[in-house]
Amino acid sequence: MSATAAAAPRAERPAALEVENVVAGIGPLTILQGVSLTVDAGGVTVLLGANGAGKTTLLRTVAGLLAPRSGRILLYGEPIGGRAAHLVARAGIGHVPSGRELFSRMSVSDHIELGARLCEPKRRAELRDRVLTLFPEIAARLRQAAGTLSGGEQMMVAIARALMTDPRVLLIDEPSTGLAPKVVLSIFRTLPQLQSRGMSVPLAEQSLRSGFSVADRAYILRDGRIVMSGRPAELAADAGVVKAYLGG
Ligand SMILES: Nc1ncnc2c1ncn2[C@@H]1O[C@H](COP(=O)(O)OP(=O)(O)OP(=O)(O)O)[C@@H](O)[C@H]1O
Ligand SMILES: [Mg+2]
Repeated sequence: MSATAAAAPRAERPAALEVENVVAGIGPLTILQGVSLTVDAGGVTVLLGANGAGKTTLLRTVAGLLAPRSGRILLYGEPIGGRAAHLVARAGIGHVPSGRELFSRMSVSDHIELGARLCEPKRRAELRDRVLTLFPEIAARLRQAAGTLSGGEQMMVAIARALMTDPRVLLIDEPSTGLAPKVVLSIFRTLPQLQSRGMSVPLAEQSLRSGFSVADRAYILRDGRIVMSGRPAELAADAGVVKAYLGG
C-alpha cells in the first residue's frame, strides 16, 4: 500500500438517517420547505416545534406515508425516499404515529402480532419476548382491549407494535402528549435500552424541556423549516431558542 493510500481518510460510517433538503406536502399545500437533518447511529434526536410546525409531516414522510416531492432520505446510506410505507418498514424504519393509532377493540397481543407481520417469522418469538420485557406493564395485560388501557399503556403498545418490526430507526411522534410527566419519564427511560442495541430514535416533541432532557441532538422546526439545531445543552442555554421556536 502506498503512503498516500494509507493516509487517505477511511470512509466514515454513514449516519443512521439523513434527510436532505426534503420538500413534501399534501395536495397543493407544501408543508416541508426543504428540511435537512442527520440522526446519528444509536442517537436520540429530537424534533422540536410548536403546533403545525411540520413535525408529524416530517416523520410521516420518513416513514413512507407521504412521498417527498424532492430531496433525499437515506437509511444507513441507502436511499429510501419515495418507497411505499411497508417497504420502508422492511428496510428498518419503525413508526409510532401521532395519536398512537391503536384499534380500541383489539387486544394488546393483537397489536403486537400486527407488528410481527412485518418481521421475519423465525424472529417473532424473540422480538415478542424482548418488547414484553421492556414493557412489563403491558405484558400483564395481553388480553385487554387497547381502548381500555391508560394513556401510558397505550403509548407502550404503540411502541411495542413498532418494535416488532425490529427497526434500526424508530420514529416516535409526540410520546408525551396527554401523559403525566412521571409516565413520560418511564417511557423515556426505555430509550437507552433501545440505543444499547444500536437503534436510533428521532422523536417529535412540543416541549423544549422534555425534548432537551432526552436527546443528544435537537432540531427546531418552524413553518416547515429547520430554524436551529445543536446539542441540547447548548440550545437550552441559548436565549434565541424560544424565539426560534415560537417565531415572530
Ligand atoms: N391532511 C392535511 N391536510 C391539510 N393540511 C395539513 C394536513 N396535515 C397537516 N397539515 C398542515 O401542515 C402543517 C404541519 O402539520 P403537522 O401535523 O406536520 O404539524 P406538527 O408539528 O406535527 O404539529 P402538532 O405539534 O400539532 O402535532 C399544519 O399547518 C397543518 O395544518
Ligand atoms: Mg404532530
